[in-house]
Amino acid sequence: MIQVEPVKKKATKRFYIESYGCQMNFSDSEIIASILSSEGFDATRDAEQADLVLLNTCSIREKAEQTIRKRLTEFRRIKVERPGMLVGVLGCMAERLKGKLLEEEQLVDIVVGPDAYRTLPDLIAEATSGTKAVNVLLSREETYADISPVRLNSNGVTAFVSIMRGCNNMCAFCVVPFTRGRERSRDDQSIVNECKDLFEQGFKEVTLLGQNVDSYYWVNPANGHTIDFAQLLEKVAMISPHLRIRFSTSHPKDITDAVLHTMSRFDNICKYIHLPVQSGSNRILQLMNRTYTREWYLAKVNRIREILPGCAISADVIAGFCTEDEQDHLDTLDVMRTSEYAYSYMFMYSERPGTLAARRYQDDVEPEVKKRRLEEIVSLQNQLSLASNERDLGSVFEVLIEGDSKRSDQQWMGRNSQNKVMVFDKSVDGLKPGDYARVKAETCTQGTLIGTIVA
Ligand code: SAH
Ligand code: SF4
Ligand code: F3S
Repeated sequence: MIQVEPVKKKATKRFYIESYGCQMNFSDSEIIASILSSEGFDATRDAEQADLVLLNTCSIREKAEQTIRKRLTEFRRIKVERPGMLVGVLGCMAERLKGKLLEEEQLVDIVVGPDAYRTLPDLIAEATSGTKAVNVLLSREETYADISPVRLNSNGVTAFVSIMRGCNNMCAFCVVPFTRGRERSRDDQSIVNECKDLFEQGFKEVTLLGQNVDSYYWVNPANGHTIDFAQLLEKVAMISPHLRIRFSTSHPKDITDAVLHTMSRFDNICKYIHLPVQSGSNRILQLMNRTYTREWYLAKVNRIREILPGCAISADVIAGFCTEDEQDHLDTLDVMRTSEYAYSYMFMYSERPGTLAARRYQDDVEPEVKKRRLEEIVSLQNQLSLASNERDLGSVFEVLIEGDSKRSDQQWMGRNSQNKVMVFDKSVDGLKPGDYARVKAETCTQGTLIGTIVA
């Protein structure tokens, strides 16, 4: 059989993108996809078919960078078979290593930092003509506000919307201020418009993203009007009561009562706050430059519980930061117990070149000790997660259906406002992803509430 393909399609180039790291990176990949699609590139899910292979990378821990190096080695094989294929490294590792990446990884053709994606078409052209291409300039203004992201791997129900970029906080352990540059907020109207568009396309949940969303602050250059995070939340929440709003990440020092009160006023703003604690020891918190004490943090947790009863809280925790001793570690376990986290992201400290900690402190906690402390943190969190789910048994939650459960196509999977995964039988006809269901939690595991639909 002769297949006749339209000329346009034949001329189309294909790109393949893999994303690593935080939600911001996944959201950036959708901006990159948009820039590439206006250049005649189509996305493919098969690297073997691609003319351009992109890795949107993360530098947060050494392991994250090792994963990327390994992936690049795997792409070397494809490149040997198809020398014309271009390989680009984007994101935080590109920003951290800059041109050095080209020396270290011979197969890499393009290196682009997080603020330079608009120049991708030029860089691709340069690389196509045989010159290796690098742009790692950071910007004080770039927010990609006018670019309408192309949703990748979308479930059609939930989407990320980036509201700010960069970070000014300088936590001693963290590479992000170096890889993402200074903090800047995005025009509120472009955020609201993007969320409206998503809702009109059928999306039912948006997650507003930034390294530190609570310091969102936009000054309208036309009239000098200002808008802070609490006001932005309200604007997005007003789009429709059927559009859920989430946000991430909050820095404990910046989340205000105004934000908590706005959350309380709108049912569609989800009752869930990710509030990274990092450590429960005042001495370590100070070395980390987190700018709060454990008492201040716990007071914030209390305030959340007071204004938003039933709000779930999760955290990030680092085990084995420089000079951490057993008492510091016990303080961390204690803060976790008191805060009753629904879940946590838990990490062993990994020294990052260029950070304050790398320059000033010794990474002196033995790897076995870090590992043991992390295991204790994880095991405590497992107990706390189970206890948190057990407290929910018997309660009815509104769940936004995202799709089939992993185990069975006879069951739905969705999340409640508290961001807990709920799984339940498809006992009512006519429901589909994007619909809301009222579900009673009946049993649970540490990670899931299992329930049934109630009328
Ligand atoms: N902006 C967010 C988090 C960004 S990074 C915030 O401030 O909360 C996500 C998490 O990675 C951090 O909260 C921290 O727990 C962890 N992390 C960052 N640098 C790390 C390092 N050098 N070693 C181990 N974990 C780290
Ligand atoms: Fe890193 Fe701290 Fe900024 Fe978060 S707030 S991105 S941990 S420097
Ligand atoms: Fe990683 Fe960069 Fe995000 S270092 S965690 S991808 S901001």
